[in-house]
Amino acid sequence: MAGAAWAQALNQNPALKLSTVEEAITLMDFEEAARRVLPPAHWGYMASGVDDDATLRANREGFTHFKLRPRRLVDVSKVDLKTEVFGTVWDSPIFLCPIGGQKMFHPEGEVAVAKAAGAKNVVQVLSTATSTPVEEVAMARGTPPWYQLYMPSQWDGNERLVRRVEALGCPVLVWTVDLLGGRNLETAERFRRADTRDCTACHASARGGRAIDALPMMSGITGGMNPPAASWAYLERLRKLTRMKLVLKGIETREDARLAREHGVDGVVVSNHGGRATETGRATIDALGEVVDGVGGQIPVFVDSGFRRGTDIFKALALGAKAVGIGRPYVWALSAFGQKGVERVIDIARAELQLTMRQCGTPTIKDITRGSVI
Ligand code: FNR
Repeated sequence: MAGAAWAQALNQNPALKLSTVEEAITLMDFEEAARRVLPPAHWGYMASGVDDDATLRANREGFTHFKLRPRRLVDVSKVDLKTEVFGTVWDSPIFLCPIGGQKMFHPEGEVAVAKAAGAKNVVQVLSTATSTPVEEVAMARGTPPWYQLYMPSQWDGNERLVRRVEALGCPVLVWTVDLLGGRNLETAERFRRADTRDCTACHASARGGRAIDALPMMSGITGGMNPPAASWAYLERLRKLTRMKLVLKGIETREDARLAREHGVDGVVVSNHGGRATETGRATIDALGEVVDGVGGQIPVFVDSGFRRGTDIFKALALGAKAVGIGRPYVWALSAFGQKGVERVIDIARAELQLTMRQCGTPTIKDITRGSVI
């Protein structure tokens, strides 16, 4: 290959065509593998942002706004990724984001992810839109997962759902508040229309749409979910309803961070739903700082959306995040390789974070501070 062409190929950082899990070098390698195995409609649903996908792109671009400030001549022969969250010591400041309908990506769906989470001792946040009931996921994981709430529109349904996951022993309830206004998954819709399969084996109509048995957690609950009337008064009611730790997912501003704290929330997730909620929003790495300011160190701040590299995670920790959620990458790996793929994603993310910590002279999570980035 001529020099210029070789240089260009290097720049483009082409994804490997994986045939085995072991070949993966980065999380991004799994994206191509998933694309190969998934039908267009399922791929498009997962890959989609909203409208023109501007928030989706912003999430990745945001990491270029922060650079590392490595310190030298620190003994990094031992690096410790452990961190404490709600009184529990985690092996690393990484968790798996709630992602609905995982049987759409692999026949074992949430159970494969639960087994991987158990094997790697990582917190899995289970979606209300799960295609596997929470009880089965808890069995596969060995302990109940954190539970993500899409609030049923009718309060008695909400009460039933919350009681069910509380009774099972889920320690944390994560209420997602960034989809209460609806959304336009335009890219997903384009892929769905390009998919000409007959989908009646799993869906009510030949052209797809909601799967026949898509929402086991909502069975017997009528009236839909994500009530647009939801307000801070709903939060007060929810707070009174449960003794589980209550976390709000989808907070992007200082004002809401303050309100969350004032309303007795135990933590917030800075998230834009992986670019799948509000269009032309900021990257979450750009919003993180003001949310951290807003909570004033009183409650933990988690973050997700666009995290693909150990350096991305490191930057969030430096800006004050307690832990970082990985979304699509584990679904790519699940799609192509099931449980083993998810395990490999966790391993790679941890290894890259560990390497970044070594290189930056920060051997423990506590050593990563605001001064670690600029
Ligand atoms: C999601 N996300 C999501 N969030 C949530 O609270 N409940 C849910 O059911 C889902 N479902 C879901 C499905 C799919 C296909 C995707 C891609 C995402 C959002 C998810 O929890 C998380 O915020 C983002 O995925 C993080 O961004 P990245 O890592 O995917 O870029």
